[in-house]
Amino acid sequence: MNIDGKAWRTIWLEEGGRSVGVIDQTRLPHRFTTRSLATLDEAAEAITTMVVRGAPLIGVTGAYGLMLALQADPSDDALEAAFTRLNATRPTAVNLRWALERVRAKVAPLPPAERAEAAKAEAAAIADEDVAMCDAIGEHGLALFRQLAAARPAECRGEPLNVLTHCNAGWLATVDWGTALAPIYKAHRAGIPIHVWVDETRPRNQGASLTAFELGREGVPHTVIVDNAGGHLMQHGQVDAVIVGTDRTTRTGDVCNKIGTYLKALAAHDNGVPFYVALPASTIDWTIADGVAEIPIEARSAAEVTDIQGRDSAGAIGSVQLTPDGSSGFNPAFDVTPARLVTALITERGVAPASEEGLRQLYTQ
Ligand code: MRU
Repeated sequence: MNIDGKAWRTIWLEEGGRSVGVIDQTRLPHRFTTRSLATLDEAAEAITTMVVRGAPLIGVTGAYGLMLALQADPSDDALEAAFTRLNATRPTAVNLRWALERVRAKVAPLPPAERAEAAKAEAAAIADEDVAMCDAIGEHGLALFRQLAAARPAECRGEPLNVLTHCNAGWLATVDWGTALAPIYKAHRAGIPIHVWVDETRPRNQGASLTAFELGREGVPHTVIVDNAGGHLMQHGQVDAVIVGTDRTTRTGDVCNKIGTYLKALAAHDNGVPFYVALPASTIDWTIADGVAEIPIEARSAAEVTDIQGRDSAGAIGSVQLTPDGSSGFNPAFDVTPARLVTALITERGVAPASEEGLRQLYTQ
């Protein structure tokens, strides 16, 4: 996507592959800065501290992290240690394990001297494929939005389609385009009037900081709302559809996504609002069937709940404490929305019911 007229991806190779460049997402929306990752440690730390985040981008960063590790030491032991280290950085997004397994499977049979170069090629392929998948998700979602716009009552035609999204599943969460935001960008570019309700997404505020930043740069009309406002807006007919991304979707269509997604799905169900989930194949965990029981939910620092980051009137970025001294916080980062609450899954292969049959029909051809 474009920032000040320059096309960006969220991750790229530098110095012929001796390091990897990323956008530092902890400084957005107030500062657009980049970081260079030159070692396994730096790649792992960038994922843990959420310099990079979003399931697909975590996967690609992990893949490049293996490349960096193999440049320093291509031995079997180093490969396994780097795999274990990177895989432990964030436990919920399955794209990470998927990308690491893919690179390991490619390089493990090779002589050590060839491994780093092969890892580079495989990580680059994963990144390029992610862009292509998100582009295709955008096309399928665009077709859906066209139908929604056309099906509106005559008195609403021409008014913007009101879409609500949670967290950030835009280009910053992927390599380019995004998952949930790709159809929104394509609809906007196609001239379909669209307005996005952006859930702030406490505690880290990926909606208020990242989604709002992205939509603003692309000129998409949007309004940031507190996380608790969505149900009220749905009751009053102000939401035509909800669209979110996912960090892991079971083979049965249960969807794990940023904490608070489940409550939006319940409100959408109660109000007859369609609830769509956009995802690439790399986010499907074919090994599990019950999302609530089987998906590990990352618990992050309580400080993300008790403190909040922002820019003060003098322009300085800093944190302030919200809670009284001594109050503890608890911070589960994701929740699971059961498949029965999901209207449809939008994938790079098309739109499917959120069910094992729906997913298998798309992915066994
Ligand atoms: O904790 P984050 O910011 O990595 O969580 C991101 C999300 O929950 C996104 O909605 C999800 O990864 C889908 S991104 C295409």
